[in-house]
Amino acid sequence: MCGIVGAVADRNVIPILIEGLRRLEYRGYDSAGVAILNGSGQLSRQRTVGKVRVLQEAIEETPVAGHLGIAHTRWATHGAPSERNAHPHISRDGIAIVHNGIIENHEELREELAGLGYEFTSETDTEVIAHRIHHHKQKLGDLFRAVRATVAELEGAYALAVISEDEPDSIILARAGCPVVIGVGTDGNFVASDVAALLPVTRRFIFLEEGDVAEVRRQSIRILDHEGNTARRPVSESALSADAAEKGEYSHYMLKEIHEQPRAVAQTLDERAVGGKLLEAAFGPLATEVFRRTEAVQIIACGTSFHAGVVAKYFVEQIARLPCWVEIASEYRYRNPVVPRNTLFVTISQSGETADTLAALRMAKQAGYLSSLSICNVPESSLVRESDLVLLTRAGPEIGVASTKAFTTQLTALGMLVVALAKFHGTDAERERGLVQRLIEIPALIEKTLHLDGQIRELATRFADKRHALFLGRGQMHPIAMEGALKLKEISYIHAEAYPAGELKHGPLALVDAEMPVIVVAPNNDLLEKLKSNLQEVRARGGELYVFADPDAGISSSEGVTVITMPKHVSHFQAPAVYTIPLQLLAYHCAILKGTDVDQPRNLAKSVTVE
Ligand code: AGP
Repeated sequence: MCGIVGAVADRNVIPILIEGLRRLEYRGYDSAGVAILNGSGQLSRQRTVGKVRVLQEAIEETPVAGHLGIAHTRWATHGAPSERNAHPHISRDGIAIVHNGIIENHEELREELAGLGYEFTSETDTEVIAHRIHHHKQKLGDLFRAVRATVAELEGAYALAVISEDEPDSIILARAGCPVVIGVGTDGNFVASDVAALLPVTRRFIFLEEGDVAEVRRQSIRILDHEGNTARRPVSESALSADAAEKGEYSHYMLKEIHEQPRAVAQTLDERAVGGKLLEAAFGPLATEVFRRTEAVQIIACGTSFHAGVVAKYFVEQIARLPCWVEIASEYRYRNPVVPRNTLFVTISQSGETADTLAALRMAKQAGYLSSLSICNVPESSLVRESDLVLLTRAGPEIGVASTKAFTTQLTALGMLVVALAKFHGTDAERERGLVQRLIEIPALIEKTLHLDGQIRELATRFADKRHALFLGRGQMHPIAMEGALKLKEISYIHAEAYPAGELKHGPLALVDAEMPVIVVAPNNDLLEKLKSNLQEVRARGGELYVFADPDAGISSSEGVTVITMPKHVSHFQAPAVYTIPLQLLAYHCAILKGTDVDQPRNLAKSVTVE
């Protein structure tokens, strides 16, 4: 989604803005722009379609410098990707604005402004905000008050940064529904959609709360809360280094992140699963009491995080023996759920800013759940701040749009949740020790699986010219097949679907022929024999099978069947995380062969902060 950067400093801020935009590229965007107060105190704006590199080249051709500026990467919602729809948008008398989010009542406001004589040069909802601020500033005098009056009229979600030629030392910032941070510097202050953008200039951050409006000056920061009272927000030190979000020796972030998984999973378990025991206090001080009272679990998430939730459902039922439901956040938020007694509400999200997941959590808080728990990768995110209990995955920054290490660390964290719940619902210390041990072994099993990379790269050559693919799994491996299909479609643009293998004969078998590769995840579990019968059904119709199989599965390569042998001794509790790895690598190599943009696939955003 859109990215915002702003700076007010003693030095020329153009390099800070451009580097900030570059660091926000992973969020997904289609155009970029910058507005700066130049040496003569006038707004100078550059906007380009395409990558930040194109904007940078445009600035190099027509150089501009200044001490105050805002910049933006736009992910189109209202109006096509084009220069005139790109931000910043400008209103009369030199007011410039960048915006992330969606304003739902923009048409109504636009009509009113047109009646007042304002002319529109774009199709965006953002331009409406710019003119509205101008309109209020005429009456109220200063920019801060004009922004406050404007946000009071807005319906929807936004993070805004606004500057004006009249006030050459300040950026006004507002937040409702979309994240924005202030970076506290020594020779100035900075603003951005997330900390990654500002790590080269500061490690000290203030996180705005919902409804806050801030005035960020070179030497001072003033924040008012949603009621207009002065708010004191803490300054926190980020543990991330500026190069934590760099590619290093890897050609793509996605590849780097795939290879980081053994470490990321181990870090997620560190000091939380020790001596054969799980420390439920890792979920927060209230966790023990909540888990003791939990009688059912409702899981909510989107995309890859949803797939992690579906895996967890199987284990919550099998191991903790509690009923568990999983639902996609964008659907759940518009239902009127009947909540069984003592149900724990669990959200899963890499970013912690996914609009649908956040909305579901807010709705759940009114719906009578026992408590809310979030499993999330970003400690400062809205989801973490608004949940009663939290278990942070420690994947580190995930930059590639395709979720990889976020997923396997989510599976690990959910494995911990299963053990924690099981402890209070009939599991004895010995079984707990066994399950914790299985979790601790996962990093080494992932490491071994990564050695299959060469074979998978070779396999990918047989896929790159295909238009469709089918992924099969059974039981807790069905969501892994779903995740494999999502990875393949999102980065290689090959259409892929996943089915529980037993469902084939109820329809999808009609699609199977020599042109439809069928990818199967086949660990050695209690559904293996059933799965093997399903594979016979595919072979009998001429389908080409590619099977990631346990060495003892009794499946070997033959005509039309290619088997890639997975590591030995992968238990059913470990298999979802381990068997995900080859599917990530397969998608990655197919995308490389097809020449797609692996880290920033078309039309997608890393953090979906709008509905
Ligand atoms: C998957 O590769 C995608 N990046 C996407 O499905 C993602 O998992 C989804 O948008 C949810 O994001 P979140 O985990 O940040 O909430």
